[in-house]
Amino acid sequence: MLTKKPWRLGTRAKLLMRGLRYSCILPYASIDGWLTVDEAITLFELAKGLTEPEPHAVEIGSWQGKSTVCIAQGLRHKLGAQLTCIDPFDASGDHESKDMYDGRASDLNGPLRRAFEENLKAAEVRDLVDVRVGFSHDHVAEVNESIDLLFLDGDHSYEAIRRDFEDWSPKIRHGGYLAMHDVVHPVHEGPRRVVEELIKNDPQWLEQRYVDSMFVARKARS
Ligand SMILES: C[S@@+](CC[C@H](N)C(=O)[O-])C[C@H]1O[C@@H](n2cnc3c(N)ncnc32)[C@H](O)[C@@H]1O
Repeated sequence: MLTKKPWRLGTRAKLLMRGLRYSCILPYASIDGWLTVDEAITLFELAKGLTEPEPHAVEIGSWQGKSTVCIAQGLRHKLGAQLTCIDPFDASGDHESKDMYDGRASDLNGPLRRAFEENLKAAEVRDLVDVRVGFSHDHVAEVNESIDLLFLDGDHSYEAIRRDFEDWSPKIRHGGYLAMHDVVHPVHEGPRRVVEELIKNDPQWLEQRYVDSMFVARKARS
């Protein structure tokens, strides 16, 4: 006798469905920047997984919006969600990055800020983003709400990333997340030293892991 098998998704369909989950961050692929696919997916998933009401993410170092789009798409559909982006949009940065930033900025048909705005509009996330033009340390005092997800990707020199970590990580709420880019990097030493010296052995930073060059940790609940 022929028994009817229960209907199940096959492996191929499951894989395709997995891919579809990330279709909303596809615009990220057309934006200039340095984020790998797995880093992009991780930022998206971290933002999407936030369960606090009115979640607040902060990104330091936005460039043309590659990581911005991933975080903002993760926040999409969450009531009152907001992503605060801080960047001078003048291609300034650490000694190792400056020439590259200048070169890439001069390839644009206009200012960086305009490219950032256009990329956010094309990805349909502009409404979720609050832009603060300037250096991270100039804006730290005015951001008073607690942070659910902090992404550090601005100045990669040791002094600057240490200052960013010390200024901004106390604002992460208990149970919130820190992501730091370029921690595993052949040139930039700053982010790696900050992780090794200030985070790695601190029991308040849980669930420490690496995704390509990016470091992720969760602040303990209390
Ligand atoms: C590596 S890029 C950011 C890349 C971006 N997150 C992406 O996914 O494409 C670093 C950016 O941070 C900016 N920046 C440099 N120093 C900064 C600071 N102190 N505060 C905020 N942004 C800074 C740079 O001008 C540049 O736009």
